[in-house]
Amino acid sequence: MPVTTCIFDAYGTLFDVAGAARVAAAERGREQLAQVWPQIAQDWRQKQLEYTWLRAVADQHCDFWQVTQDGLDWALEAAGLDDPETRERLLALYWELPAYPEVPHVLADLTAQGLRCAILSNGSPEMLQAAVDSAGIGEFLADSLSVEDVGVFKPHARVYDMVGARMGCARDEVLFVSSNGWDAAGAAGYGFQTVWVNRTGAPVDRLYAKPHHIVTDLTAIKGLC
Ligand code: LAC
Repeated sequence: MPVTTCIFDAYGTLFDVAGAARVAAAERGREQLAQVWPQIAQDWRQKQLEYTWLRAVADQHCDFWQVTQDGLDWALEAAGLDDPETRERLLALYWELPAYPEVPHVLADLTAQGLRCAILSNGSPEMLQAAVDSAGIGEFLADSLSVEDVGVFKPHARVYDMVGARMGCARDEVLFVSSNGWDAAGAAGYGFQTVWVNRTGAPVDRLYAKPHHIVTDLTAIKGLC
């Protein structure tokens, strides 16, 4: 089937999750954070994701805002940074993460090609709304689907089921785009056509399915539909 619907992961794919720590570290008075922010950004993201996977297998769901805070607390403690004001600033910035530079024009071009674009994310509806508004990309998105509607995190099949249920399309009409290799693999195993946006040149995840396409940023997606 030809692709009719492009579904995007949010964090790391449309929105730069390192942006919060990078922006905060550049602010005046944050010399301590400035020295360790790349490690904090990496640990924060890694722990946030680990907590989603562990909560999914243990059937202990909470929303993405909770695992975002828990992941940050782990990262700050690991870095020896005990500063409630910095914590609050990092969390506030997570609600207005920068979009990658190519995002607005890629979404505009896909929409102009007649494709429907939407988000499918672990993010809570409130977090996704804030990120979309802050990036100014709402006009190109038909919908933002949050795992909160099914109460489990990716890569559970119930999450990918939301696309057919809400967008009314068959699995093989969907081009699913994610910068998270495990998410692209999960979606490929589910039956979507998939693109892994491998911005860092990481190896392919050894999982039960592999992404159909691998690109280095979102601009190549137009040629895949
Ligand atoms: C998301 C996470 C996986 O947006 O980045 O669903």
